[in-house]
Amino acid sequence: MKHWQIDQLPWDSFDPSKVDPELVKAVKAASVVERNSVDYAVYLNNVFHDDPDFQQAADHWAVEEIQHGDALGRWAMLADPQWDYQDAFQRYRDFYKIQLDVDQSIRGSRTGELIARCMVETGTSSFYTALADATDEPVLKALCKQIAADEFRHFKLFYDHMHRYLKREKISTLQRARIALGRVTESEDDELASAYHTTNEPADMPYDHNRCIANYMARAMKTYQPKHLKRVTGMIFKTIGLTPHSKLQDLAFYIAEKLFFSRQKKFARMVGLG
Ligand SMILES: [Fe+2]
Ligand SMILES: [Fe+2]
Repeated sequence: MKHWQIDQLPWDSFDPSKVDPELVKAVKAASVVERNSVDYAVYLNNVFHDDPDFQQAADHWAVEEIQHGDALGRWAMLADPQWDYQDAFQRYRDFYKIQLDVDQSIRGSRTGELIARCMVETGTSSFYTALADATDEPVLKALCKQIAADEFRHFKLFYDHMHRYLKREKISTLQRARIALGRVTESEDDELASAYHTTNEPADMPYDHNRCIANYMARAMKTYQPKHLKRVTGMIFKTIGLTPHSKLQDLAFYIAEKLFFSRQKKFARMVGLG
């Protein structure tokens, strides 16, 4: 069962004067990636083909992710009435495809798959929390709070299943760290870059990965404050199996904060927002 419904959001309170047009571009890209989770549910059902409990959880998870896309898309159409969410989603679907016909995880193990899912939910929960804090537009703020709450629940869902498989597959802390950090760096791969391209750039403009990822990241990363990154490092530590709230986490946070904000500035300069 969904924890909230799109029609319950305060749509009548939409205030165009509080819309940041740069954030609208990031929201458009995020909306189609969220909706595309239906493909990941197919992929997860294949990877966990003999685990009906997890398959059911994955199907339920996908329903919530689709709702995130639909709600963000509806907001983006209020902010930019020229833009069409369904058309943009179709363009994204035609442009970006993930391999679905698998019988095992591309991460090498089911534990690895669930670690990767935990990292995705770490990213989304922090992004929507940061976006809710960054925007003064009341509908987007309310929407992002609801989405962030779902994403934290998704993290817990995948984390609990990850522990179930960890007992069988016995993956070392080092391997867990490698998979987790590998998935974090994948955020700069084609998924978000092509989402930016298909939701913000004209159809006759050639795709350029570096330009598109810089455009997306410059805007999305700008919403983050140090407190959001602190939570991210805590969730990564938890997923890897290291003690959160430790001296090591303080050090990881210190390094992550420096890297994150210098990267945001680099992306912003690349696209003329710096
Ligand atoms: Fe989501
Ligand atoms: Fe999620």
